[in-house]
Amino acid sequence: MELSQKLQDALNKQVAMEYQAAYKYNGMRIYLDDLGAHGATHWMTLQTKEEIQHAEDFIQFIKSVDGQVELGQIKKETTDYDGLASVWEAGLSHEKEITKSIEDILALAIKENNYAAENFLRTYVDEQVEEEDNFRDVLELIELAGDDITAMFQVDSKLGQRK
Ligand SMILES: [Fe+2]
Repeated sequence: MELSQKLQDALNKQVAMEYQAAYKYNGMRIYLDDLGAHGATHWMTLQTKEEIQHAEDFIQFIKSVDGQVELGQIKKETTDYDGLASVWEAGLSHEKEITKSIEDILALAIKENNYAAENFLRTYVDEQVEEEDNFRDVLELIELAGDDITAMFQVDSKLGQRK
């Protein structure tokens, strides 16, 4: 099933967006590491790797339908945050942007009756529900811990258990 130029462009844009997410989360990982929050660093390291895998999935999909992969530009990202809550707030808001982008591409695939792209993108809608939920869960834990240092150590330790 061939890709229209428009759909191919949108999928390539998503590849860059997934790499951008990896780049952003790597900035967070560097910040968390500097902070000495080992568990949180571990969590974000895995998240960074996951985003690279998402980019790879989109690349493979484009290739599998004989499309042309283009690697677009990614922007500079900060390594400067203001505590754990600010990191996961920024992460959650970025995931929401990614969800919106994937939903827009899915709408285009549906409009063009591109069933292969539709099926592929639907799995990513599910993935995004999970991603937002993961970020929201951590943010809730961080907010619950508040200024309690002991509770924050427990949160960090829990984040260190992510597989
Ligand atoms: Fe992603």
